[in-house]
Amino acid sequence: MTAETDENKVRKNGLYRGVSAELAQNMKEGWTLPEPGGAQPCAQAAYTARRRMELSIRFPGELLVVPAGGPKVRANDTSYPFRPTSDYVHLTGDHSRDAVLVMEPGQSGGHQAVLYTLPPSDRENGEFWLDYQGELWTGRRRGLAEGERVLGLPCRDVRTLGTRLAAATAPVRLLEGHDPAVDAALADRVTADRDADFRTALSELRLVKDEFEIADLRFACEATALGFEDVVRVLREDAPTPERLIEGTFFTRARLEGNDVGYGSICAAGTHATTLHWTSNDGEARPGDLLLLDAGVETRNLYTADITRTLPVDGRFTPVQRRVYEAVYAAQEAGIAAVKPGAAYRDFHDAAQEVLAEHLAAWGLFGERSAGEAYDLGLHRRWTLAGTGHMLGLDVHDCAKARTGTYVEGALQPGMVLTVEPGLYFQPDDSTVPEELRGIGVRIEDDILVTTDGNENLSASLPRRADEVEAWIARLRSPESAVPAPLGRG
Ligand code: GLY
Ligand code: MN
Ligand code: MN
Repeated sequence: MTAETDENKVRKNGLYRGVSAELAQNMKEGWTLPEPGGAQPCAQAAYTARRRMELSIRFPGELLVVPAGGPKVRANDTSYPFRPTSDYVHLTGDHSRDAVLVMEPGQSGGHQAVLYTLPPSDRENGEFWLDYQGELWTGRRRGLAEGERVLGLPCRDVRTLGTRLAAATAPVRLLEGHDPAVDAALADRVTADRDADFRTALSELRLVKDEFEIADLRFACEATALGFEDVVRVLREDAPTPERLIEGTFFTRARLEGNDVGYGSICAAGTHATTLHWTSNDGEARPGDLLLLDAGVETRNLYTADITRTLPVDGRFTPVQRRVYEAVYAAQEAGIAAVKPGAAYRDFHDAAQEVLAEHLAAWGLFGERSAGEAYDLGLHRRWTLAGTGHMLGLDVHDCAKARTGTYVEGALQPGMVLTVEPGLYFQPDDSTVPEELRGIGVRIEDDILVTTDGNENLSASLPRRADEVEAWIARLRSPESAVPAPLGRG
């Protein structure tokens, strides 16, 4: 939210200094300002309306405020690429910075949703060319009428929001921490408890995906699969491949097909694979190493895939690499089989971890203890390290504010999408395991949709079985394997 007028801001910042009256006048004139007439409703508009309706039912009579947030500073006067808050995107389909969704309670129940956003720069003041956030510097902004057509909800100038909020009398629910001006305007109207309840409701609203979201996640997986193929094509059999090249190769595909990567790509070669979230990516993948690639394309609607494959850099698993890989594969198979409607959320985790414990026991890593005893004591966790998965959607770790009772202690429902990603990680300095295991890290991660009668693996186009992985690498390396054209959607 920007509370000041453009003219004031421009004057206060001294941007008019050094600008002659003639130039200031000259820059006000001669712009034809086309307002595009043909903007169509976005494909998501009917779905966002339904999501707002569900939220409305949950908070009758209350004023609901969900900001998009603004760019975050990277250093000095440069920012990270802007990405709006996930709850705002879920409820609007909009990606504008500094915009705010306000749902005003109606007299006769329900809510009237209004999107407060910054309209195009006014040429009458210098903002559009003198302020480096003006349109001449950052690109054209959508007009309010155009926004209304595209998003299917009324749009108003965000600079009027302060007055609107000051006049509101209904109890307020605010998604705090994203827009300092909105937080300040409502500081004495919100409490930490009410804020937490609202966050929880927004998160739980995203647990079951609608058709639009499922189609987008499906596309994210398809695009990610192409990115993995691109990476296999740059892996060298005869020389080290920089992890930086692997990261950049995947990123190129992510930008081409979608908006970005949904999280920092993990391009972990050799012993780096034993670090769960290795994102430094400053090492190199050598022939004979495994490469653990955990990466996801975020679509232009901002839904992300989250997929991991662990690949032999030179195309063939060594016997010990294969042994570890096959244990993780068996665990993942057990985990995926446990994903079905009505099952406890924890079932897939338990199923996968039990299989890992059995393999660790068979390799003698628990000494005299049986797999069951070791499992009950949690001893397997020295090498399994993480949970077996999480919800997936607009955020890679989606629905993070949902209550324990509805998420990790809840039951699976059709339309939920979750990752199943068991792994084994033997640190290079772990003296409790045989030397041949030290430095090996394997994770296999797929994105699984709960269906009405079981599940569907959205990332199934990427091979998982060890022999299929080897055949896939060989095929991609053959001279006749052409780089696929962009999917052209998303
Ligand atoms: N890519 C992070 C995770 O798998 O949870
Ligand atoms: Mn994951
Ligand atoms: Mn992952």
